This record gives sequence, C-alpha cells and structure tokens, in this order.
Amino acid sequence: MKIVLGSDHAGYELKEYVKSLLAEMGCTVVDVGTDSEASVDYPDFGVKAATLVASGQVERGILVCGTGIGMSVIANKVKGIRAALVYDLYTAIQSRKHLDANILVLGGRITGKDLAGAIVRAWLDTSFEGGRHQKRINKIDQFEKEHPGEP
Ligand code: RB5
Repeated sequence: MKIVLGSDHAGYELKEYVKSLLAEMGCTVVDVGTDSEASVDYPDFGVKAATLVASGQVERGILVCGTGIGMSVIANKVKGIRAALVYDLYTAIQSRKHLDANILVLGGRITGKDLAGAIVRAWLDTSFEGGRHQKRINKIDQFEKEHPGEP
C-alpha cells in the first residue's frame, strides 16, 4: 500500500517512528515532511498530504501534530478526505469499518509509540463494511458537491 505521511514539529518524532513501522510492513511511504523539530505550521503539511490522497496518487495518509486536532481540521477541508483523529484502538477500527477513513490522524504529544503502532496496524488491517455506511458517505460526498466553497 502507498501511504503519505506528514507532520509538524510536534508530530515529527512520532511520524518518523510510524515511517519505520510502515517500511517494516512493506508499505511504500511518501513523506511530505516536516523533517525536523524546528517549528512549522501544520496546515502546510496537512494540505500536501491530503491532496495526494484526494487525487488518488496514494491510497491512504497518516498525519501527526501535537494533539492531532489541527491536522484533522485542515485535512477534512480537502474534498474527498475523511480524516479520523484517533487516540485508541476502538476508534481506529471504527473509523475504517464505518467511515472508510482515508487519513489517520495521531497526536504526537498524546499517543505513545507502542499504542500508535498498534493503532496504525489496526487501521491498515481493517476493511470498510459498506452497506448502510456507504449510503452515509454518499451523503457527505453529495454535500461536498452541492456546497463547493460555502461555509
Ligand atoms: C503546535 O504547537 C500545536 O499547536 C500543533 O501541533 C497541534 O497540536 C495543533 O492542533
């Protein structure tokens, strides 16, 4: 699977850990940065990663900032993105089963490496259930079509 990774400075360390994990799992990783703990702005990296997912150039994305909140807000502004901010295994699994989340967002200042690793594995291993959940996603897509650029 081809996966894009992005973070700000507060998510850099966890992003690097996730990168090594994905490489071990045999995934192809596209890293859009950041590449150090020097202060940067999360929207710059969130938009880059989300755009690659939305355009189909990569299948999924994983974003990390301090809390994960900023990254999830900006990623969900990109049409076609369903970014899930996840702090535990249950929400990781549900975000795939019910939401077909195409971006996983982690909080680098909140979630430790072991739990983050388990979350990433569960998120990548869990399939979308479709059915009634597809109908709900179709409604999200319809809303995006009918309200381009509106508040
Ligand atoms: C950076 O200090 C921090 O605000 C950012 O990483 C993130 O937590 C925002 O949601």
